[in-house]
Amino acid sequence: VSALEAVARVRPVRERPLDAGELARILRYGAGVLRRSPGRDDHWFRTYASAGALYPVEVYVACVALPGLDAALYHFDPRGALTVLRTGDHRGHLVHAAAGEDAMREAAAILVLTGIPWRTAWKYTERGYRHLYWDGGMILANVLALAASAEITARVVHGYTDTEIETLLGIDGRREFPLCLVALGRAPAAPAASALDPLTYRTRPLSRRELEHRAITEANDAGRISDAEAVLRWRDLSSALLRAPTPTAPPSDPQATGEAVQRVIRRRGSARDFGGAPMSAPLLADTLGRSIQGVPSDLVPSGSRLTRLLLIANAIEGMEPGAYRFGERGFELLRAGGFRRAAGYLCLEQELGAQAAATCFFMAELDAIVGTLGDRGYRMAQLEGGIAAGKAYLPRTRTDSARRG
Ligand SMILES: Cc1cc2nc3c(=O)[nH]c(=O)nc-3n(C[C@H](O)[C@H](O)[C@H](O)COP(=O)(O)O)c2cc1C
Repeated sequence: VSALEAVARVRPVRERPLDAGELARILRYGAGVLRRSPGRDDHWFRTYASAGALYPVEVYVACVALPGLDAALYHFDPRGALTVLRTGDHRGHLVHAAAGEDAMREAAAILVLTGIPWRTAWKYTERGYRHLYWDGGMILANVLALAASAEITARVVHGYTDTEIETLLGIDGRREFPLCLVALGRAPAAPAASALDPLTYRTRPLSRRELEHRAITEANDAGRISDAEAVLRWRDLSSALLRAPTPTAPPSDPQATGEAVQRVIRRRGSARDFGGAPMSAPLLADTLGRSIQGVPSDLVPSGSRLTRLLLIANAIEGMEPGAYRFGERGFELLRAGGFRRAAGYLCLEQELGAQAAATCFFMAELDAIVGTLGDRGYRMAQLEGGIAAGKAYLPRTRTDSARRG
């Protein structure tokens, strides 16, 4: 399945089993190292975009024995290796933490994404909390597209008892905490959770001194779920969710190259300079339409969304310059006018917002979301924005990538 198709797929058409090779591909291209910064041995860029290239998200995986890979709990080293943290099959602990969620119970492998706030907060302070989810969303955009491209079932799981995951991984819940789980593939039922020995390892300090940003700890603690019953109660809230209608599948881009996801990921990079050439409205609609297809998850009913997409169109062929909403009815003009300066200002006075053909804003109505899902809804809205933005990096044709960014 090509990158263009994979980005928009919510579930596989023909399901295939997960094997060690596919798991490696998903991890390596989902969250691995891509290239070194020229002239700087200590700075490695990853396969996904990250605010300030600070990469505060870690990936762990618990799997059943797969041909070529023992059952274990692993930490994924982004340079392309798995480090054993616990031997044996530990999926049962994750299933228990997620209160027996359907996809988790059947998953052959379960990814855990965690965030280390200090890695981003030393620079971005409290706002770094959002970056954990946005960057995590960038990884998920890759992971979901890679899984879809290989017809492997994948589901993002938001509902779990946070402390159970922390105990399993040996993380403290303050300097590192879980962001979400991803159930991948299918395998015989996961074993029941057995008693866990504490896991401790020595880690190198990130810097001489670390500050704790209380707002981050408080925001994260506010979203915690304390036990299995609370997970089930929380999951039930989905029936009350904002049901954004599913956008109809956008028409295929006639220029589609059918390129494989990992090839697109290898070429992916954030544009720093924007060419002056305009972009066509159908190409933009196709890119955005694919990016905002619903995320398969334990809570949001298939096809619905928490975030809305607004954009400032500066130079889109066939569209009057102005502010637009983009959704199932395509582009809807909110206000006509030249808003390049406003777009640059809204991007914290960065020229790129003004130079771009279009600047997109993923918006969340937090009162409604938090009102329905509680404080955990904040995490989910951030993550969804990250996934959609990450997907927007992928469905590009070869000729678009350099010029249009
Ligand atoms: C959440 C997020 C916010 C970002 N914000 C900016 C930004 O404000 N300005 C900018 O030039 N790049 C921004 N970037 C792009 C990163 O600087 C870029 O992803 C990182 O340097 C790695 O480079 P690469 O994407 O080319 O691999 C952002 C990326 C993410 C994921």
